[in-house]
Amino acid sequence: MKDFKYYAPTEVVFGEQSEEQVARLVKKYGGTKVLVHYGGKSAERSGLLGKICGLLTEGGIAFVSLGGVVPNPRLSLAKQGIELCRREGVNFILAIGGGSVIDSAKCIAYGVCMEGDVWDVYLGNATPTAMLPVGCVLTIPAAGSEMSESSVITNEDGDVKLGYSNNLSRPKFAIMNPRRTFTLPPYQTAAGVTDMMMHTMERYFTKDDDMDFTTDIAEAMLRSIKTAVFAVLRNPENYRYRAQIMWGGSLMHNGLTGCGITDDWATHQLEHELSGMFDVTHGAGLAAIWPSWARYVMHENLSRFVRFAVNVMDVPNDFTDPEGTALRGIEAMERFYHAIGMPTSIRELIGRDVTDDEIREMARKCSRDYTATCGALRVLHADDMEAIYRMAR
Ligand code: NZQ
Ligand code: ZN
Repeated sequence: MKDFKYYAPTEVVFGEQSEEQVARLVKKYGGTKVLVHYGGKSAERSGLLGKICGLLTEGGIAFVSLGGVVPNPRLSLAKQGIELCRREGVNFILAIGGGSVIDSAKCIAYGVCMEGDVWDVYLGNATPTAMLPVGCVLTIPAAGSEMSESSVITNEDGDVKLGYSNNLSRPKFAIMNPRRTFTLPPYQTAAGVTDMMMHTMERYFTKDDDMDFTTDIAEAMLRSIKTAVFAVLRNPENYRYRAQIMWGGSLMHNGLTGCGITDDWATHQLEHELSGMFDVTHGAGLAAIWPSWARYVMHENLSRFVRFAVNVMDVPNDFTDPEGTALRGIEAMERFYHAIGMPTSIRELIGRDVTDDEIREMARKCSRDYTATCGALRVLHADDMEAIYRMAR
């Protein structure tokens, strides 16, 4: 069993009345001048933005606002945020939105506290030693950024999407009101669920078979989320199941499902090139890649794929044919993706055939100009990455 450290310091305030706590929480974590950071129109339309700003005013907390974060958040807006925070003397960032807004907030929070270009952090050329505190009001369960140590930013100059992880960036608090997710369109709901399941699957498919407790937790979460997603796609205002999904999204990426095992983020890294190049929804990109990745690597630990097929996908175990059982598990996952409106190929994802040049370019970027590998269950080099993109095309 792998030694591990579990660190999940974020204060979670969950439920219908959770937003009322916002001013108290900002003050608790030292905020006296806040940047309210948000995305496109959803938080304005629902009245959430107005409500939060009203509560900050009532609580005597000064703030400035910066909206306009788009999915696959851009470096240029984060740089505007850094300037604004410096000019206004901001000492706390409040993100209202999903992974994109929270990640943009984390990037701004790094940038304010360092000299030089914040992109160097994502390039691995600078290590932040401090950042502004970040809190969030979550509106879409998906990325898990509300409790995670990661942020993922897209530099429009070259369409490069890079992630950076540092425990400093785990948000101080996360306010989660499942009712706020009723307005999520089916596609975003399904892509979010795909993403959160993948955060646990990227930890589940490991060579470390001896951490049963973590594996059992992971399987229970995956089964539970599968049930919940159909319930909310049938009835978007189903509070009970919106709540399971919202809490699931946080627990599936806060480190809990990785305790004692070696994780493998290959599908995520392969996907980041897809969303960097084609600006697609991250969760949908994961669904387009995972079945091909799984078929490519499954022989590295076939019994794990059999276990997944039987315990998560309800495939009958054919003891005489483990490979067949494992493959039927992958096929069942593909049927699940289709049933919730997700693609299982790049063609379905982007609506056209991906070209050979585009595949080579994604493999080049993913391997950092042929210098880096990804994955752990099977370590993938640039030629493996290219092969998986071809299988997924
Ligand atoms: O911009 P608005 O109008 O708010 O619309 C958003 C956006 O278009 C909409 N939305 C959000 N809440 C809504 C809503 N629409 C209606 N009602 C609501 N309540 O949903 C769209 C997607 O939002 P976004 O924040 O992009 O979604 P998500 O949480 O999936 O974040 C995706 C980003 O997170 C990164 C991804 O790569 C991607 O850039 N990730 C971050 C991780 C992390 N920090 O730990 C890990 C993940 O693996 C992931 O890579
Ligand atoms: Zn993800």
